[in-house]
Amino acid sequence: MLRLLLLASALFFAINGCSENLADNDKSGSIKMNQLREQLQAKLGAGYGLPVAAATAEQLVRGKTLYQTLCSSCHGESGKPPDITLTSLTVPPADLSRPEIVNFFSEQARLEIIRNGISGSPMKGLRGMLNEKDTVAVFMYTRTLIK
Ligand code: HEC
Repeated sequence: MLRLLLLASALFFAINGCSENLADNDKSGSIKMNQLREQLQAKLGAGYGLPVAAATAEQLVRGKTLYQTLCSSCHGESGKPPDITLTSLTVPPADLSRPEIVNFFSEQARLEIIRNGISGSPMKGLRGMLNEKDTVAVFMYTRTLIK
């Protein structure tokens, strides 16, 4: 009897697990982002939700130059990316002007994305190119693009 119960519950979980996977496949894009958010939450722990300080005028000037040099080709000058069909990209860049897109990740998580990129995506990490001060400056400039 105990065996039967175990078998039944194993079956139950197997079937449930499968149907969950099927549902996941229907929205593959957001699954990737959900997983990334979970990874960043695990990595940053209590730091995940910590806000980044307000920008100084100097940081915004520096951040704007960096953004225009390193980011705007994909994300667009205003944060609104150009039509992907006009580019060689296979994944559409995130619209950094839309709060509902940007705020899916916390500020610290977005900093991490700028540092380390998104695996398997054209969004490459800038860790090797930007020091921490410049990373924060470009992040602060992207905040001004949110409409
Ligand atoms: C080669 C093109 C490219 C460049 C250059 C680029 N990005 Fe991205 N970025 C992307 C793509 C594509 C995504 C969407 C990722 C995905 O769906 O896999 C993205 C996503 C992001 C995200 C996550 C947005 C969200 O909330 O979903 C942030 C933040 C970001 N980029 C910031 C930047 C910043 C800042 C720079 C410049 C330092 C930059 N990106 C340069 C292509 C690019």
